Amino acid sequence: MKQTRILLLTALLSLTNLFPFTVLGDEVIAIRTKDTELVLRTDEHNYLYQVYFGERLDHPEQMHMTANPARVYPAFGTSYYNEAALHAVHADGNTSTELAYTGHAVEEVQEGVLLTTIDTRDTHYPFFVRFFYQSYYEDNVIEQWVEIRHQEEGDVMLYQFASAHLHFNEPVYHVTQFHGNWADEMHMVENKLTRGQKVLDSKLGIRSNQFAHSHFLLSLDGPALEDAGRVVGGTLAWPGSHRILFDVDEVEELQLIAGINPHASWYRLEKDEVFETPALLYTFSAHGTGEVSRNFHRWAMKHGVYRGDRTRLTLLNNWEATYFDFNQELLSEIIGDAAEMDFELFLLDDGWFGTKHPRNSDHAGLGDWEVNREKLPDGIGYLVEESHKNGIRFGLWLEPEMVNPRSELYENHPDWVIGQPYRDLHLLRNQLNLDLANPEVRDFVFGVVDRYLSDYPGISYIKWDANRFITNPGSYYLPPQDQSHLWIENVRGLMSVLERVREKHPEVFMMVCSGGGGRLDYATLPYFDEFWISDNTDALSRVFIQWGTTFFYPAMALASHVSVVPNHITQRITPLKFRFDVAMSAKLGMDLQPRDMSPEEKAFSKNAIQEYYKIRDIVQFGELYRLLSPYTNDRAAMMYVSDQADRAVVFAYQLKKAIQGNKQPLVLKGLDPDKNYLLREVNKDPGSYSWFTPLEGKVYSGDFLMKYGLRFVMYNEYDSKIIELTAQP
Ligand code: GLA
Repeated sequence: MKQTRILLLTALLSLTNLFPFTVLGDEVIAIRTKDTELVLRTDEHNYLYQVYFGERLDHPEQMHMTANPARVYPAFGTSYYNEAALHAVHADGNTSTELAYTGHAVEEVQEGVLLTTIDTRDTHYPFFVRFFYQSYYEDNVIEQWVEIRHQEEGDVMLYQFASAHLHFNEPVYHVTQFHGNWADEMHMVENKLTRGQKVLDSKLGIRSNQFAHSHFLLSLDGPALEDAGRVVGGTLAWPGSHRILFDVDEVEELQLIAGINPHASWYRLEKDEVFETPALLYTFSAHGTGEVSRNFHRWAMKHGVYRGDRTRLTLLNNWEATYFDFNQELLSEIIGDAAEMDFELFLLDDGWFGTKHPRNSDHAGLGDWEVNREKLPDGIGYLVEESHKNGIRFGLWLEPEMVNPRSELYENHPDWVIGQPYRDLHLLRNQLNLDLANPEVRDFVFGVVDRYLSDYPGISYIKWDANRFITNPGSYYLPPQDQSHLWIENVRGLMSVLERVREKHPEVFMMVCSGGGGRLDYATLPYFDEFWISDNTDALSRVFIQWGTTFFYPAMALASHVSVVPNHITQRITPLKFRFDVAMSAKLGMDLQPRDMSPEEKAFSKNAIQEYYKIRDIVQFGELYRLLSPYTNDRAAMMYVSDQADRAVVFAYQLKKAIQGNKQPLVLKGLDPDKNYLLREVNKDPGSYSWFTPLEGKVYSGDFLMKYGLRFVMYNEYDSKIIELTAQP
């Protein structure tokens, strides 16, 4: 990712010989991955154009200037009249910019990762935009961002500052967006684009994905298909306000502009200051959306999530078990139960802190990170010890960027919050955001995390929450003329704190949470091992939420917890097996009070957890293939296949009662046609007949399974099956 690349640049070896580009009088710059090609070219004025983006070309040198090439980064005010990627007002008041190419370089920053840097300068002003294209050859992912800088006498104002602009000229465009709300994340909706603009954006600043996620699928051959057709998948690596804009212009060409949402965020750029945009990550597939996902997953495990090669731990979280209502004895008992069921970690959630204003509900105490001795007389250390005595690890919930007005922190530092003078405090979940533009606040936030990790080295895991977005967007720290910088400075502040935490505490596991999936992006995830996608733990809802999420994020990082029924959010009652079978398709955990389980349920859970350990490596490190979408089928199904295609695991969920039986075949994917696979049902329900039984223990070739498939009937709503396939020697 971006952060590390700068350090690596020095020791680099140019790979231009291996990945040649040809100069045809004008400059032709090809940015390539194994299967993708983005070709840029200059004209006689040295203006820079995108002339091709798509499947890898055998002869990019044949690429000529097309009839209407598109500027790589259309700037406001010159010949371009549509939505601009860049709008700068120069120190003398000139509102236009004309960028011309001045040079480029290609370097290998890691094995298989090339960084192409292209320099441009305004034709009149000392105003510079540097483009970065980092291409991940094997993973088919391109990471693109820009740096803006100037040497004018006076400040330049930036009003638009996109990370990337991509141009398409196709007969038809279909965009899939991902949207939602609290407890209802990652819905997928596809629409055909018509003339004009479609904007996917967030103006929330923090918890910015609460309503709209910064991801998209753009299909170029009609509605997107899983295994066919040209599709671009993209996501903006930025935990603040984002904007992805699709503009179908007057000649039916599509401009895609993605970056920080410029809404209310005009930026005063001083001489020699470098304004770096976040990166747009994108991948092109000529074989449908399945490949888009697999590209992102492979890339993420190497570059996009923290330690993507490490096995993720199972855990029991006390949030839905107790909410704020617990004490030392109760937690000790839960720790014992968690260990007894063979979980690997106990996670203590909200409510353990606050002395003057105890955190017994979400109305008070946030910001006062002192242990509440009334609840926990022996402190955090005792619970860490209890966990260790029981042979499991201990994790702790923190929400360090936030504060309740009813807290000592707010009493002492009312000017540390985001807010505007003369306006009422606008509370969300009874809390305010701390202003991370302020270095003192950054130190405080770092200090909260650092203190617990340093004082209790036995803490193995942090759940880092952030439960509200920004309103009243003012900073008591920033000067009057830079109030609009808050949206960006706050994110920069968060990034700098995360950087410090990881530098000092590289070993701790961290989960990112933001009232569920409000903060999920590839700027944040390089610091986190996993994420909490939703407070909605209802298994049926999760089938859909997780379906959308795994278009961009690997299952290894997607925490999915078994919880009680009726579900606290949807009131739905589903079988324990269904709840496990859904959670086992990602990173398994539990969010319930074991005391409320019957001995049979405990025994079932213990067995399910053991079964998860047997398939965990395939789920966490395998390649995902979607078989039946819950959006269009009564049965949903997907599978993971191991690296060498010698093991696989199939998940099938019956979402609706099928009176005559649902017989949809599961035509498998990703197997080796020449291998023979032994079938085993995982996590069987001992109490009920399984319609899979006739297939149990049978061996079929990969060819057969990928043509005829696995066929077994399912009848009942919330029936589920997990099938393991093991290649026979
Ligand atoms: C948020 C999180 C939950 C839980 C609560 C605690 O809502 O998403 O998982 O941690 O905060 O207050």
